Amino acid sequence: MELEGRISTGIYGLDKLIEGGFIDKSAIVIVGSSGTGKTTFVMQFIMHGIENGEQGLYVTMEEAPKQIMKMAKRMGWDMEKHYEKELFFIHLKGKNFKKMIEEQLPQLVKARADYEIKTRVVIDPMTPVIWATPDKLAQRELIGKLFYTLKELGVVVATVEEHAKPGETVGEDVLIPVYLSDGAIHLEYYPVGGAFNRTLKIIKMRGTAHGEGVYPYMFIRGAGMVVRTTPMERAVVEKRKYDEIFDEAIKTAEHLKAPPTMIEKLKIMKENWTYDSSPEEALEIILESYGLVGK
Ligand SMILES: Nc1ncnc2c1ncn2[C@@H]1O[C@H](COP(=O)(O)OP(=O)(O)OP(=O)(O)O)[C@@H](O)[C@H]1O
Ligand SMILES: [Mg+2]
Repeated sequence: MELEGRISTGIYGLDKLIEGGFIDKSAIVIVGSSGTGKTTFVMQFIMHGIENGEQGLYVTMEEAPKQIMKMAKRMGWDMEKHYEKELFFIHLKGKNFKKMIEEQLPQLVKARADYEIKTRVVIDPMTPVIWATPDKLAQRELIGKLFYTLKELGVVVATVEEHAKPGETVGEDVLIPVYLSDGAIHLEYYPVGGAFNRTLKIIKMRGTAHGEGVYPYMFIRGAGMVVRTTPMERAVVEKRKYDEIFDEAIKTAEHLKAPPTMIEKLKIMKENWTYDSSPEEALEIILESYGLVGK
């Protein structure tokens, strides 16, 4: 379902969380540490448009178009077929982003804007623009100008690499792009195994009543990113199921006269168990290490 004026993201499940898609001519930032799937996200977004008769403009900094297209092929998207027909690249290399963003880019965009073809723009990664200057004010001006210029064409999705410190919701290094954006999505990866160790969270989405949960997503070759959109209901059911397992373990421990400190630990674990997997195995190991259950 796509609401009027909404641009379907092409990320399976995501549209449902943001009232049908991104608002046209908005700037969206995808934040995540290395390897979370930012490139996958933007490739899927741009290819979804192309598959539906739109055009795509891919702004790169470090990697050449050839490398990007090779990577896309590995993920199952044939970009070469559309190269310089519906899919165009701007390779902003070198250090002089300021000159490029302030002078060359507006000219390029002006030439394209006259065509009146729906265009999706991605900037992947935008991080080098931030790193180009340590001066926060200059960063703000540069990123603001970049968004302002490219939004003329259509939705702009930019990726920003973050290095969040433990306990931070989003890293300090990404505050400026998030602030200047109309919407921001956070991707996280917990390398702990399990089916849903990658999660997506919508930090903001202007003019949109958006999902507020933490949504697990996975990669499927040939399809791309798939977001599970019902975190709450399922999590609640699982929590209740897991609670029973904890209660059982606590009862067993009490029955076997386990030390109070250990029972206290199990209770804390129960309250804090937010993982996708069952606590059964962990409980068994813990009980066993206290010598409470036989091997
Ligand atoms: N189709 C797929 N099937 C399985 N795993 C995949 C698939 N596509 C991507 N991945 C996994 O996602 C990881 C990251 O993908 P991606 O390149 O999109 O991340 P990124 O956030 O752009 O990383 P970087 O910051 O290094 O650019 C890959 O290393 C790979 O493990
Ligand atoms: Mg990437």
